[in-house]
Amino acid sequence: MDFELKTLTLATLCSEKADALIVLIPDALAGGEDAVSSLAALALKSGDLEAKAGKLLSAYRTPGIAAPRVLLVSVGNASAKSVRTAIVAAIGALKASNAQRAVVCLSALADLQPDTVRAAVVACGDALYAYATSKSKPSPVKLQRVVLAVEKAASVKAGFDKGVGLVKGIELAKEWANRPANYATPTLLAEAAQELGKLPRLKVEVLGPKEVAKLGMGSFMAVAQGTAEPLRFIVLRYDGAAKADAPVVLIGKGITFDSGGISIKPSAEMDEMKFDMCGAASVLGTFKALAELQPALNVVGLIPACENMPGERAVKPGDVVTSMSGQTIEILNTDAEGRLVLCDALTYAARFKPAAVIDIATLTGACVVALGGVRSGLFSSNDALAEALAKAGESSQDLCWRMPLDDDYAEGLKTHFADIANVAGRAGGAVTAAKFLQRFAGDFPWAHLDIAGTGWKSGAAKGATGRPVALLIDYLLAQAPAAVPAKAPTKAPTKARTVKKSVPAPRTRA
Ligand code: BES
Ligand code: MN
Ligand code: ZN
Repeated sequence: MDFELKTLTLATLCSEKADALIVLIPDALAGGEDAVSSLAALALKSGDLEAKAGKLLSAYRTPGIAAPRVLLVSVGNASAKSVRTAIVAAIGALKASNAQRAVVCLSALADLQPDTVRAAVVACGDALYAYATSKSKPSPVKLQRVVLAVEKAASVKAGFDKGVGLVKGIELAKEWANRPANYATPTLLAEAAQELGKLPRLKVEVLGPKEVAKLGMGSFMAVAQGTAEPLRFIVLRYDGAAKADAPVVLIGKGITFDSGGISIKPSAEMDEMKFDMCGAASVLGTFKALAELQPALNVVGLIPACENMPGERAVKPGDVVTSMSGQTIEILNTDAEGRLVLCDALTYAARFKPAAVIDIATLTGACVVALGGVRSGLFSSNDALAEALAKAGESSQDLCWRMPLDDDYAEGLKTHFADIANVAGRAGGAVTAAKFLQRFAGDFPWAHLDIAGTGWKSGAAKGATGRPVALLIDYLLAQAPAAVPAKAPTKAPTKARTVKKSVPAPRTRA
């Protein structure tokens, strides 16, 4: 995918050479004499183009317009949300065509804001992503070049650049989340992180079972012990500010497959538990976007990655394990494994003396029941952090909703046999899970995003969404003191090493 920003009016658009024009038409369309304006005015007047965001009308080889395909798309009130709806509809209609280079024209939108252009770029990226990795004959999307046409490129360039960086991050997050569990093992996930480590200002360290045992991460290890697939603890660093600047730590749940373990899940839709590393994928995607955008701040990423499987060595209901924090945990349900890997990562996070710690996890089915696929669950005992995250969700259209954390919700986590149990009955399941995590959040500001409903879509459109990369990036950029991105140092080329196949071979078991 290749994006370009260009200054074009509706009049100059008529002579622009492209395979297709996508023209966003607002309710309040200013009249013009050129071919595109006349066509749009006629279409609206006749009612053939309905004035509702996402409604389409296509034309072919129109006199006075150089591009063979013209797609008029209504954009309603031209809000960022309507722009998104319009572009997803238009690109969707064009995706199957032979068009390779399209112009998406926003020039008819009055008072265009950088954030609207950012939304347009992100929507293009979203609509153009196609999963291919484990297909023998993937059908590639021909449309690979998108020119964003606006009336004044200079005034919206910041939004455009942000959008392009975000698309790269969201794409990476979707790709790793979509890969089947045998194409995205903890080891392969760690290798993907190490690839990111080659980017400017990024460093990656990967810990294996020995190092994790030495750290005393007994809770994380308990989840991983039911499978032959070795765990990985991935540590990413983006250093964009002075060393003394406290970093924001992002922790992503990286369960590459969640069978439930001994408390095994029912078969229906169990395949979707390959998406149980959407939190981890969103952390990788956020680091990719950080490398693109180069903001002046420090960020640490932590990913505890393992499978949750039943096996002869698997942890059993009733087993008590000792977490890195020293707290003992009675594992009453092995399917509540996300909190067991996250709690040790939260303890590990304290060593960075963080400004804030945010964990991102497909943590509970209860959160899907509560909020569905529209908003992620947001939990935080720190009002300032909660507000900043909620605001970032709104500005990026990657929405979340704050949920409660009253101590009364923790009552059910009490047990006679350990310091804490890992489950507390069915009621308020998303909140009790967050209460469990809160016990391990040290004295730093902490927030938890439950993305069980938003990380991927089921049904015909089954696939990862790349959420909440956009939310996290908006939050992080708001923390960066410098409005101007810091200059990226050029990384010395790393020594030649064996080139990895871009399509990894599936893992096979002996
Ligand atoms: N990964 C699941 C949560 C999940 C379930 C996400 C369905 C998306 C869709 C998590 O590990 C899990 O199994 N949670 C249990 C917790 C329960 C045992 C307390 C759940 O939600 O059922
Ligand atoms: Mn589970
Ligand atoms: Zn899980």
